[in-house]
Amino acid sequence: MSVHKEVKRVTTHVLQAMKAQGEKIAMLTAYDYSMARILDAAGVDILLVGDSASNVMAGHETTLPITLDQMIYHAASVVRAVKRALVVVDLPFGSYQGNSKIALESTIRIMKEAGAHAVKLEGGAEIADSIKRILSAGVPVMGHLGLTPQSIYKFGTYTVRAKEEAEAEKLLCDAQLLQELGCFAIVLEKIPAQLTRKVSEALAIPTIGIGAGHYADGQVLVTHDMLGITKDFQPRFLRRYLDLYELIKSATMQYIKDVKSVDFPNEKEEY
Ligand code: KIV
Repeated sequence: MSVHKEVKRVTTHVLQAMKAQGEKIAMLTAYDYSMARILDAAGVDILLVGDSASNVMAGHETTLPITLDQMIYHAASVVRAVKRALVVVDLPFGSYQGNSKIALESTIRIMKEAGAHAVKLEGGAEIADSIKRILSAGVPVMGHLGLTPQSIYKFGTYTVRAKEEAEAEKLLCDAQLLQELGCFAIVLEKIPAQLTRKVSEALAIPTIGIGAGHYADGQVLVTHDMLGITKDFQPRFLRRYLDLYELIKSATMQYIKDVKSVDFPNEKEEY
């Protein structure tokens, strides 16, 4: 008899059951092996290799510049670390819009080269063909509605979306369409809490909110924001669980001091 305790992997079916049972889903972003190992060991349900890597890892102002090759590099590092969480990878800007064949080719690269478990795409009816084609290849798809950062130049700002009736109605229709197409979950970003409630109650598949209030079936935050590694970004929805910026900075200052004063390394730290 095996003495190893098998870790039960989170699948899209597990997430569906969590919604049915009223258990909230915890999702965070990850872009590298070391961080993904910690987050997975802590028990996070979904790790999103988000194109927010473009901001927090590469220092770009928007998510638009990150490439498919770069996403695959980040995703492969995360997949190598994970024992339990479902790993979802963002299709980057330009790798799926307007051409379902390109969307499928991008997805196949992510699945084959990174070993991802699912992909995420931003948008509703306008990307239905791409979603259908990816799903027809047997790859689970997560949708993303509301504030969709790849369209930032269309929106002009990062403010709350769907406050007006017409946009809220379109969002609800898009959410229903994504469910009909076969998406296993939908991220709702920066929309009013009451709209999140309406969408979450209307759908059988889970909604995962970011700045979308407590009615969502789960929550996601950018890990670097949640841990306080990023500093200047302080939207109302963000709860910081640590101030790692200050902790890392003061530890680094101490290290510099120790090196310069020849306190480090001491006798016990040398051979
Ligand atoms: O790229 C990302 O990190 C995301 C989350 C904000 C949902 O899409």
